Amino acid sequence: MTEKQFLPGNYLDLPKSGKATWKAPSNIALVKYWGKKPVQIPANPSISFTLDTCATTTSVSFDKKEDNGALSFDLLFDGKPKEDFKPKIHTFFERIREYVPFLGKYHFTIETSNSFPHSSGIASSASGMAALSMCLMDVEKTLNPSMAENLFHAKASYLARLGSGSACRSIKGSMVQWGAHENIPNSSDLYGIEYPFEVNSVFNTFCDTILLVHKGQKQVSSTVGHQLMHNHPYADNRFQQAFSNLDRLKPILASGDLEEFIKLVESEALTLHAMMMTSMPYFILMKPDTLEIINKVWEYRSETKIPLCFTLDAGANVHLLYPLSEKENVRKFIKDNLAEHCENGQYIHDGVGSGAIKINS
Ligand code: PMV
Repeated sequence: MTEKQFLPGNYLDLPKSGKATWKAPSNIALVKYWGKKPVQIPANPSISFTLDTCATTTSVSFDKKEDNGALSFDLLFDGKPKEDFKPKIHTFFERIREYVPFLGKYHFTIETSNSFPHSSGIASSASGMAALSMCLMDVEKTLNPSMAENLFHAKASYLARLGSGSACRSIKGSMVQWGAHENIPNSSDLYGIEYPFEVNSVFNTFCDTILLVHKGQKQVSSTVGHQLMHNHPYADNRFQQAFSNLDRLKPILASGDLEEFIKLVESEALTLHAMMMTSMPYFILMKPDTLEIINKVWEYRSETKIPLCFTLDAGANVHLLYPLSEKENVRKFIKDNLAEHCENGQYIHDGVGSGAIKINS
């Protein structure tokens, strides 16, 4: 699909008011997106597991207003006004306005909440932007009921991407691929697609326990981190590596070869952080406890042969990935050996989910 196809069709008469509510999950990348071109075009393709428990629920209520111009909205987080979130939403609305022109015709009340604890260090931008985009597409669908299902989801992902890159992977499907890749049919820089190849059933129920190592504010935001990939001495090699890792992943996902899966996923996580450490200015987002956990995971894996591995986001928290069949063993290991490295002993058991869902009010 091209950008042109995301321009709106002919709207029916605008309803006076209405409300849409959607819940969208977070996602965890296996092959990482790090580095972009304007506007939110990834420098390399990526792929992620969609999560289940970690999610944002957003309601958008809309009331027709007289003037047909300025953007107008209120924002409530956990039921309370949240002024400091507004500039980001305002920029997002300005950016997508051409594609959803009804934005200028209504006053919106956006109510949002996360399933995970506030300031847990879990980024809510992916699930938040995905949930908001689904609500907007829900409004659009009311105005254009004949819109095809695949266009609905592709455009939701397209809008979400313009809010926060990785958000485009939180719309539909349990494995989502984003970024044009010559060997992946229908892949696009503009939106995420459900991974089109065979995926072994072991991955359908894969578990992800998120160890909350550091809940504070990161010293360097993802936005700045992406920018530092411009003129980065290793950028070109890194981007090439991501392309070839997607090729390497194809037989691994089909066969369920966990040994090879672990090598690829852990290497991707450490490469992401190596890019941060070798940019100028350089920075480190891992904490001593992040490294303690990684070393304990390696030790546990070598002693027990249980296929437990880690991946990292742009932060100090650790995502532990393992098959459902090892749930009892791994959860005992986490409780007994890794919880001590988490802030206030906190961690979240999550697993592979299937995408955003509509909540009926
Ligand atoms: O979507 P952003 O701009 O917050 O970037 C996210 C980047 C990583 O989480 C580090 C990797 C990824 O692919 O999700």
